[in-house]
Amino acid sequence: MKWSQFFNTSIGKKLLVGATGLFLCSFVIVHLAGNIALLKEDNGEAFNTYAAFMGHNGLIQFIAWGLKIVILLHAVIAIQLTIRNRAARPVKYAVRPKGNTTSSWFSRQMAIMGSILFIFIVIHLSQFWWSMHFGNLNTISYDGGKEIGNLYESVWFAFRELWIVALYVIGMIALSFHLVHGFKSACQTFGLNHKKYNGIIHFIGVWIFGILIPVGFAAIPVVIYIKQI
Ligand code: HEM
Repeated sequence: MKWSQFFNTSIGKKLLVGATGLFLCSFVIVHLAGNIALLKEDNGEAFNTYAAFMGHNGLIQFIAWGLKIVILLHAVIAIQLTIRNRAARPVKYAVRPKGNTTSSWFSRQMAIMGSILFIFIVIHLSQFWWSMHFGNLNTISYDGGKEIGNLYESVWFAFRELWIVALYVIGMIALSFHLVHGFKSACQTFGLNHKKYNGIIHFIGVWIFGILIPVGFAAIPVVIYIKQI
């Protein structure tokens, strides 16, 4: 079987969704670690220096464009899989089969939360990433150094608005639900479904991806909003 034929099968598509999903899980960890500098009250020095480095390093820019392709690929293939699964079972069960009471709830939940998250990412990119690369950012220089874009100022300015903060909190609730199940499901796709690993996979899925990361992201707009009241 050719690779193109393999990736057209349900198993091939599941592997692609799992692999792109795990890549995106690693991205959110790095992204949160970088964004924490937004909470430093240093006139944006740490965050703007980090953003300028990320924006001008060739290798990082290459990965950043790949990241957007991966986000699109993940969403498109996940939608194809959902449609295919539904078409394979055109008549809903009158009574759910034993032992399968939660799986259709989970896949529906994944599709809904994934869609909310995708809308969030589109709004988010048009807000910050676009203004960083194509907008009219004010510039700033630290200790007489080179002028760099003041993205810190734009982010702090955006989070003066309560509705934007609310949008981010809603986005992070969707992120939490999507990652808890998504992380475990991807591990299962790659065969990591064994008594030995299930405990650690559950712990990472729930505590790291379901709680720590979404709460960490949501805290940024909330704290910035409160500091500016
Ligand atoms: C409070 C939460 C967040 C804040 C304050 C934030 C802030 C930012 C900023 C300032 C940028 C532009 C910087 C740049 O392009 O180098 C950015 C880019 C981006 N953000 Fe976020 N972000 C947050 C949450 C998220 C979440 C939860 C996701 C995905 C699930 C996400 C996905 C992205 C992506 C894909 C980019 C483009 C990255 C690149 O091209 O390098 N962000 N974010």
